[in-house]
Amino acid sequence: MILLRKAVYGVIGSPIEHSKSPDIYNYLFEKYSIDAVYIAIELGGHNIQQFLSEYIVPLNIAGLNVTMPLKEIVAKNAKKLDDLSAKLMSVNTLDCTSGTGYTTDGKGLLLSLDYQGINVTGKKVVVMGAGGAARSICYELWQKGAVQVILNRTKEKAVAVGKDLKAVGDSLDNIKLYMGNCDILINCTSMGMEGKDFEDFSFLNILPANAFVYDIVYEPRETRLLEKAKERGLAACNGLDMLICQALYAFKIYTGIMPSKEDRDAISRIL
Ligand code: ATR
Repeated sequence: MILLRKAVYGVIGSPIEHSKSPDIYNYLFEKYSIDAVYIAIELGGHNIQQFLSEYIVPLNIAGLNVTMPLKEIVAKNAKKLDDLSAKLMSVNTLDCTSGTGYTTDGKGLLLSLDYQGINVTGKKVVVMGAGGAARSICYELWQKGAVQVILNRTKEKAVAVGKDLKAVGDSLDNIKLYMGNCDILINCTSMGMEGKDFEDFSFLNILPANAFVYDIVYEPRETRLLEKAKERGLAACNGLDMLICQALYAFKIYTGIMPSKEDRDAISRIL
């Protein structure tokens, strides 16, 4: 039997082979002289309970990041949840030493905006999507005092998320109604990934010239939404920076160290 002595951290999800997380965390472990290794583990929903109960201790796993499609099932199976992940039933960071689940997605997006000089307080923000990532982002936006509209293909989900956060919830089909006075547009749907995409981008033409478009998708690096936004001369950003920034918070949960903006810049250069 092989006994692993180094602390092991990893990302679980499916598909996982193109994950950028090993590059991010292995950079940080080296930078902060932490004797640990970070790996990507391909895992679908059906093996999650067995993995959490039987593999964590023998593999010396100290922490796990959780990606699609496991955020909800890990939340349901974690020993403990912090307040926000319990509220959202979504875990993207599992501290295996205490068994506690956390969600850092929304905080990552807010830090990314902050690093780009964008303060959301009082800003009119339109969020497309009402899934796990959207809910985490909407909650943080609400905490910072943004004025939000949440739009989703399934309107009821947008209305439900909006109700909790005193925000308007509506159908994504009505997007043009909300573009005229939107400061920040954030795509939290899966549109732009895996061949799925919006059919019509004319809503971008209604945005004010100083609006900012954030697409949390990072594969492909430039979705058609970003391409069209840039064609219109709008400032725009893909999801790679949010991915890095949510990892900075997860690293703090694992090690107690909050990496710096310089670390974020250095990681951006290697991804
Ligand atoms: P994540 O955890 O990444 O947020 P999710 O919870 O599965 O993933 O959410 C996916 C989001 O993309 C949802 O808002 C979903 O809309 P529905 O609630 O109506 O399913 C949205 N989405 C997925 N496919 C879409 C499509 N073809 N058109 C518009 N929105 C879509």
